[in-house]
Amino acid sequence: MQNSAENIIELYNTYVMKTYAWNPIVIVKGKGSWVWDINGRKYLDFFPGWAVSGLGHCNAEVARAIRKQASTLIHMPNNFMTELQPLLAKKIIENSFRGKCFFCNSGAEANETAFKIARKYGSTTGRYEIITMKKSFHGRTLAAVTATGQEKYHKGFEPLVPGFKYVEFGNKDELAKAVTGKTVAVMLEPIQGEGGINVSGKDYLMYVKGLCDKHDMLLILDEIQTGMGRTGRMFAYQHYDVEPDVMTLAKTLGGGIPIGAAVAGGKACDVLEPGNHASTFGGNPLACAAALAVFEVIGKEGFLDKTAEKGNYLRKKLESLKSRYPFIREVRGIGLMLGMELSIDGGGIFNECLKKNLIINCTSGNVLRFVPSMTVKKSEIDMAIDITDEVLKSIS
Ligand SMILES: Cc1ncc(COP(=O)(O)O)c(C=O)c1O
Repeated sequence: MQNSAENIIELYNTYVMKTYAWNPIVIVKGKGSWVWDINGRKYLDFFPGWAVSGLGHCNAEVARAIRKQASTLIHMPNNFMTELQPLLAKKIIENSFRGKCFFCNSGAEANETAFKIARKYGSTTGRYEIITMKKSFHGRTLAAVTATGQEKYHKGFEPLVPGFKYVEFGNKDELAKAVTGKTVAVMLEPIQGEGGINVSGKDYLMYVKGLCDKHDMLLILDEIQTGMGRTGRMFAYQHYDVEPDVMTLAKTLGGGIPIGAAVAGGKACDVLEPGNHASTFGGNPLACAAALAVFEVIGKEGFLDKTAEKGNYLRKKLESLKSRYPFIREVRGIGLMLGMELSIDGGGIFNECLKKNLIINCTSGNVLRFVPSMTVKKSEIDMAIDITDEVLKSIS
């Protein structure tokens, strides 16, 4: 069978579970901020890999590290030690807070690890409840989807995992009232991604941290989307000087190779003991080699400052669109994690941008999400803004 777009689409429809709303475009190649489809058409990707390809598609240094490791040792199970896993753990800790890491393969699994740490931490005092935020997103496994404070993701999968409660993001009183003698942790994203680029802010995060300390609860920060440099700091909590007890990572961490991590410090650090938790693939040499290369790139002198600078540049451009189109309500976010809230539906705008070879994302129905690679060029930002402008003009 010839490899045409039509054939691939037919294979998908016949053999792959339709859990995604596929765009009928077959991508065969990526480089930097660009991807190419099977017919040679080129797209500017401002939502690369759902924020996984934070260093651009096929980053040369990451690809080199993967190639080298692939011909040395791809996998060993975790009952043996390998060279790179502790080096990666050290790298994460040196860039965050004193603690230890557990490696897995995805964001949802990293969050599952955080839930297990919280449950185990509370088990001696009979506490198990975890408070999460409305509009949050924490993944699709059963506990992670339960932690996700959005009913649309729960429908059809009840009964959900017991012990999760939701409060309004940013509402201190509601959070304080939700804490009971059974509560063991509060979990949130420093900036809600899928929920519409909602920024928590220093005041709120400090309040949550204070409340957690007061009630001996764990503060769990989901940095799966915000982490690894995207906001102009290695981790978003570093904008606020509020250290979590547990932090979860994935997405950009592996530069495209699946890897997740839960990082636990202080009282949460040694909660999990031998036999409590495991992952067959977690932190294997190939994934760790990729992640170490990602740290190498992000750790280069000036890289994070440049990310912040490009974020400001993109933000100003989005603000200038806001000044011209009355249906743009707000531009928000930090660094290169930006959202534009509209007073109209954004789904059509996503489709029109795609027709003009620009990939963005629309979340929560009316928030356009711009999360380009941190290696994006200013000229590419200009191009993306010009295309978005054309589309907005055509609908206004
Ligand atoms: C904040 C956040 N947490 C968790 C997840 C789930 O990650 P994964 O799809 O790797 O399980 C995502 C994915 O979009 C996310 O954005």
